[in-house]
Amino acid sequence: MAVQLGDIAPDFVQESTEGTIKFHDWIGDKWAVLFSHPKDFTPVCTTELGAVAKLKPEFDKRNVKVIGLSVDPVTDHRKWAQDIQDTQGAALNFPLLGDADRKVSNLYGMIHPNANDTLTVRSVFVIGPDKKVKLTITYPASTGRNFDEILRVIDSLQLTANHKVATPVNWKDGQDCIIVPSLSDEDAKKLFPKGWKTLKPYLRVTPQPNR
Ligand code: BEZ
Repeated sequence: MAVQLGDIAPDFVQESTEGTIKFHDWIGDKWAVLFSHPKDFTPVCTTELGAVAKLKPEFDKRNVKVIGLSVDPVTDHRKWAQDIQDTQGAALNFPLLGDADRKVSNLYGMIHPNANDTLTVRSVFVIGPDKKVKLTITYPASTGRNFDEILRVIDSLQLTANHKVATPVNWKDGQDCIIVPSLSDEDAKKLFPKGWKTLKPYLRVTPQPNR
């Protein structure tokens, strides 16, 4: 059964480059991004891990912990980390799970047998402090992910969680948001002192509340 939005993210204990990870305890009261890599010493993955290492301050700013996974042992990850540093100009600064037994990959449905029997696809799971899954994305092995897009979605998810707004098509940080339809005009008056434009009764546009 696939892991779906709103599910409690499956908990696990697995080894990583930063020691044993008990997943829910490791998340604590933060948000988390869990993302898989098909294999160690592969070119696209090498670029992705370097990019995430460089973006780490952006994840920290949003109270988000990041953790990667690859279906090779931690001993291989440690050797690969040197290559990442050499070629990407950034050292691995977050844990990488050694999932040689496919425990976590199978738990999260990261192996898609019709794509490849043994390697994971590029899965991304964003998990909230309540341990519920907020976002899933799946890319094929041959396409590197856009982690700026993942940060953009996290901004949107956190606005919904904290301010009861949704974000429209192609929204970027700083742009107008949409008041969630479940909120009455009466309650919206208390939450949005800057007001809103009603384009249709269900389409109420307001400045980004945390700006
Ligand atoms: C890569 O990370 O470069 C890669 C991994 C598996 C298949 C294709 C590319």
